[in-house]
Amino acid sequence: MMLSEESVKAIKERAGRYPHRKSAILPALTIACRQLGYVDETVYREISKIIRIPMVEVAEAATFYTMFPKAPRGKYLIQVCHNISCALLGADSLIGYLEQKLGITKGETTPDDLFTLISVECLGSCATAPMMQINEDYYENLTRQKVDDILQDLRSKA
Ligand code: FES
Repeated sequence: MMLSEESVKAIKERAGRYPHRKSAILPALTIACRQLGYVDETVYREISKIIRIPMVEVAEAATFYTMFPKAPRGKYLIQVCHNISCALLGADSLIGYLEQKLGITKGETTPDDLFTLISVECLGSCATAPMMQINEDYYENLTRQKVDDILQDLRSKA
């Protein structure tokens, strides 16, 4: 079992809230991601057993949503929006700057497992472009100086 007792208990509790077990798929994937940092076929299988639905339905939901990483990632998942508003205000340049600062390219994790960098579609904060999400926090109106400060702050907390 990859899922902890606590996660299994939380998934069962969530599943009990819905009239249809299928409705518990997204909360279950969210709980699994919070514990493990990612989900894969082993986790899909465990969730399918816990909420008693076919594994393929869990896999379909997990692979549809980019918010569920499919492999281990760094402690901090940096998701830079590359959609239109952010692109117009320098998202590509920002991604290049992050790649340079972190010494990785998009899709990679730093050797110390601290940062994973990806680019994503619109995160719904277009008025504060360019922006990125790191784990569950938004960082907006980004400049290179702000990126430097954010990375330094996160490194100091590691
Ligand atoms: S385009 Fe970047 S948040 Fe919407």
